[in-house]
Amino acid sequence: MTICFAYFCNMLDPKMYLSNFVFISVLLMIADGFTLRGPSGPLVAPLGSSVVLPCSVDELLSVESLEVEWRRTDPETLVHLYQDGESRAESQQQDYQDRAHFFTDQIQHGNFSLRLDNLRAEDKGEYTCRVYSQQESGETVVQIKDVERLLVSSSDRSISASVGEDVTLNCSVDSHIPPGDLEVSWKKTVEDIQVLLYQDNEAHSSNERYIDRVELFPAEIPKGNFSLRLKSVRTEDKGVYMCQVFAGDLSANATVTVEQMGFSVSHIMVLILCIAASGSALLLCCLIYCRSQNEGVFLKLCFTS
Ligand SMILES: *[C@@H]1O[C@H](CO)[C@@H](O)[C@H](O)[C@H]1NC(C)=O
Ligand SMILES: *[C@@H]1O[C@H](CO)[C@@H](O)[C@H](O)[C@H]1NC(C)=O
Repeated sequence: MTICFAYFCNMLDPKMYLSNFVFISVLLMIADGFTLRGPSGPLVAPLGSSVVLPCSVDELLSVESLEVEWRRTDPETLVHLYQDGESRAESQQQDYQDRAHFFTDQIQHGNFSLRLDNLRAEDKGEYTCRVYSQQESGETVVQIKDVERLLVSSSDRSISASVGEDVTLNCSVDSHIPPGDLEVSWKKTVEDIQVLLYQDNEAHSSNERYIDRVELFPAEIPKGNFSLRLKSVRTEDKGVYMCQVFAGDLSANATVTVEQMGFSVSHIMVLILCIAASGSALLLCCLIYCRSQNEGVFLKLCFTS
């Protein structure tokens, strides 16, 4: 009442325009409801961990007819709903039923935080906590900025290669860190040879056995694809190769085995030609031998007769 009275008094005086504005703002804020407190900044948590999405209010709210709604904004999903004094599991998205934990006993303290378990990469995004109490409501936004992870995988455990052929050794990185900030080392494990090193956005090879024979696919690196191209395979290339990825304290790896060093089509062609050539040479030898044998028989016959 006093606020309204002051507001009308000020309206009569044009010089008090600015304070009018302030009063209107105050009135609007009161009508809008209460202020919810979220986190002090965006959240970052490790993959598979549990993270608490904070949402609380300082003033005391009536617990009666209180409703708390946790939603994901993109894609629009109901993560958790508290209504009529209980959690409404049936209305929340299936995926969150086991993973979203609401602290019902904390409501009386004005704490509406939500714990999200077994954090996944897809959980990155914006969440809104909306609370309705009698005629008022409040809202706060919580952002999961990154799900910390460094996962390295290869689509093939082993590949067969033929001598002289070019092969691709697969290595994919899934991380919250941009590929350009990663360090990737391709090694041949048994001999502990550094085949290739990717560092500061550049790939180098210093081992004389592999220099000029290995490369990454530059167009694939932004996608986290650090697959290695190994050209004109040699028999000694057989073995286990490790793709090791480093980022700060994190590191992960995947291995690919190069096996079955057969011969390529061109090698087989050459082999067939050799056999054919040696075959004809053998035939020629036989003919000469047979002829000389026949002559021998002929001579023997001459002598005996
Ligand atoms: C709300 O409750 C959760 C779970 O007990 C706790 O981690 C968090 O610190 C609480 N927040 C406040 C503001 O009390
Ligand atoms: C990575 O790039 C190579 C070369 O283009 C391709 O053969 C391979 O399938 C790619 N791997 C993935 C997981 O996309």
